[in-house]
Formats: sequence, structure tokens, C-alpha cells
Amino acid sequence: MEPILKVEHVSKAFGKGEAYLKVLDDVSLEIHKGEFASLMGPSGSGKSTLLYIIGGLDIDYEGSVYIGGQKMTGMKDEEQSALRLAKIGFIFQFYNLVQNLSVEDNILLPIKMAGKHVDGYQEKLEEILDITGLTTKRKNKPAELSGGQQQRVSIARAVLAEPELLLADEPTGNLDSKSTTEIMELFKRLNDEKGITFLQVTHSKDTADYGKRIIQLDSGKVIG
Ligand SMILES: Nc1ncnc2c1ncn2[C@@H]1O[C@H](COP(=O)(O)OP(=O)(O)OP(=O)(O)O)[C@@H](O)[C@H]1O
Ligand SMILES: [Mg+2]
Repeated sequence: MEPILKVEHVSKAFGKGEAYLKVLDDVSLEIHKGEFASLMGPSGSGKSTLLYIIGGLDIDYEGSVYIGGQKMTGMKDEEQSALRLAKIGFIFQFYNLVQNLSVEDNILLPIKMAGKHVDGYQEKLEEILDITGLTTKRKNKPAELSGGQQQRVSIARAVLAEPELLLADEPTGNLDSKSTTEIMELFKRLNDEKGITFLQVTHSKDTADYGKRIIQLDSGKVIG
């Protein structure tokens, strides 16, 4: 079966001359549908850089990235954005919520930004509010929520359009252990029940162990 994600000989460097720094060095990997993979490695090893390239947030690199068999590399901006919106969800360490919008408006934002009607998403919105335990908080603003709740909003936002691949960069890096467990249980449920494929960056072995596979990065190379 075609992998949902294929990274082929990806290299990336920052800077020139004395400031030159090779951050990714010939990285190749494949992730298949339904996998729950954790990307680990020391600080500065290139984890976030790789995730941004996979997610199409950074398009300046060598090598190729395929999502669902389609080559993202070299694709026109608008096409790449459309594909990204349809197939990939992104979760960050610091939630990235819009402070003056309510929980439900934050969750619906990508749909609105894609120019789609939110009417078609009402049922899904109710379902994802329920799954993430946010139904009673739907009219609240992010500042009125705990860190764990805010992260659940960003997960609901990423999941609403039912992406095939969810990329998460240290999604629990900013949370206490109770919220971390809640978020990881939620990922596991979305992976099991909705078949969403996960690639998460984490520093914690406990968190990584929620996944079924660990990919080790060191100095820009996959070492296991
Ligand atoms: N925009 C940039 N300009 C120059 N160097 C950069 C830039 N972004 C990242 N780097 C460098 O690239 C290397 C890899 O950074 P990256 O953020 O991918 O690491 P990481 O593995 O995610 O680390 P951490 O675990 O601390 O989040 C680091 O040495 C970093 O300083
Ligand atoms: Mg990082």
C-alpha cells in the first residue's frame, strides 16, 4: 500500500559561509496509514524543521516529500495549501489559538478560511466537542481555559476536517502530567477510532510509548 507520508532524501541547511548549518542530512522515512509514530532526538537535532517541511510550512529544502502518493515538493503554492488543508493537521506546543474567538469559532476557523460553509460541519463539530470534552466550554475564550483544555481546542481544530495525517510538535511540552495523559489518551482514541495517522515530536519516552513506533533523529540523520 502507498505510504501516507514518504520523505525521500531530504536535506536542509540554514545560513551561508561561517553561519552555514546543515540541519537535515539525507533523511528518508515512510509512514503508513493508521501508524502512530513518535519522532525523538536531542534539542537541535532537526525535529521541528523536519515536521515543518512535511507539513508544507517550509518549502526550501532538497529532496522530496509525498503525501498520500502525491508529490508535494515543487507543487504550486495554492495546490500545496489545498492539499495540506485536506490531508494534514498541525498541532503546536503553544496551541496557536486566536484569543478573541470562542472555542467553537477557533475550531471552525480553518473551514472558514478555506472558504467552505460551516453548516456542513455542525454534526462533526458536536462530535469533536464531545470527544475532546469541550462541549461546556464552547462559548468560552481561550484565556478562560487551562493549558490542557487549550491544547484540546487546537486538537479539535486540527481534527475537524478529518485529516489523514496529524503532525504534532511537542503537543504536551507545556502541560502537566495529568493533562499530558489526557492528550495522549485522546490521540490514541483518534488513532484507534478515526484511523488518523500520527507523527508526534516528543522529548518524553512515556509520551513516545503511546505510539507504536519511534523514529530517532540525531544531528539531522535518522539513526533508528
Ligand atoms: N530559521 C533558522 N535559521 C537558522 N537556524 C535555524 C533556524 N531554525 C532552526 N535552526 C537551527 O536548526 C537546528 C535544528 O532546529 P530544530 O528546531 O529543527 O530542532 P529540534 O530538534 O526541533 O530542537 P528542540 O528539541 O529544541 O525543539 C538548530 O540548530 C537550530 O538552531
Ligand atoms: Mg523543536
